[in-house]
Amino acid sequence: MIQQFIENFKSHTEIDFEYVFLRDYNLLNCTGCKLCFNKGEEYCPLKDDRDLLLEKINNSDGIIFATPNYAFHVTALMKNFLDRIAFIFHRPRFFGKAFTAIVIQGIYGGASIVKYLESTGEKLGFNVAKGCCLTSLEPRTAQEQKKITQKLNKTYFRFYNKLMFTKLPNPSFAKLLIFRIANTSMLIIQNEKFEDYCYFKEKDWFESDYYYNVWLGPIKKAIRLFF
Ligand SMILES: Cc1cc2nc3c(=O)[nH]c(=O)nc-3n(C[C@H](O)[C@H](O)[C@H](O)COP(=O)(O)O)c2cc1C
Repeated sequence: MIQQFIENFKSHTEIDFEYVFLRDYNLLNCTGCKLCFNKGEEYCPLKDDRDLLLEKINNSDGIIFATPNYAFHVTALMKNFLDRIAFIFHRPRFFGKAFTAIVIQGIYGGASIVKYLESTGEKLGFNVAKGCCLTSLEPRTAQEQKKITQKLNKTYFRFYNKLMFTKLPNPSFAKLLIFRIANTSMLIIQNEKFEDYCYFKEKDWFESDYYYNVWLGPIKKAIRLFF
């Protein structure tokens, strides 16, 4: 199904893509020391391919998280990857990069995994296109196959739009509120020993209306007066 999704890229020759299978990378299990949160990701005691994977994301304009539904969640491999980059929830960075999620399942439970991945993408800073969940039970009727193709094509269309056109969207009230709350809590901490505080300061976010430059109308700007 993912191959079918990727086929769409072939009609857009301006797009290069790469499959990244987590199983091909050396990614050790997070031990929960929280050094990445508090001191900085470079203090992680696990020396493996985490940064190689992050570099791949940094060098791309968009990424697609694809996973089977395993016990109503993403695979353990993907969950560990998310744990290993969880410091980015504190210090989001992938602004302007498109993101979508595709979940393949046997029977049911995948819709909430798509939602989970979409929200994860938002928190990492990505520009998220609504993903989809597909049921892979075989044999499939022509009608079922048609439905899968339609879902994949719609997801591709949404992803392509984010990739090519709407790079830095105007934030919703909810997103602005989260930004203001994060900002205020960092200001309360105000401790150079905390990487999160330093990151916010370095990015000039204490002075900004949002993570990136975007025009906010007077009502959205006013949120700043309250938080
Ligand atoms: C360990 C394991 C747990 C699974 N849990 C679920 C589940 O909770 N719900 C579901 O619908 N399918 C579940 N499945 C079925 C897979 O989601 C399904 O077979 C999927 O197509 C696997 O993707 P693959 O074809 O790329 O291996 C599970 C499969 C495995 C191996």
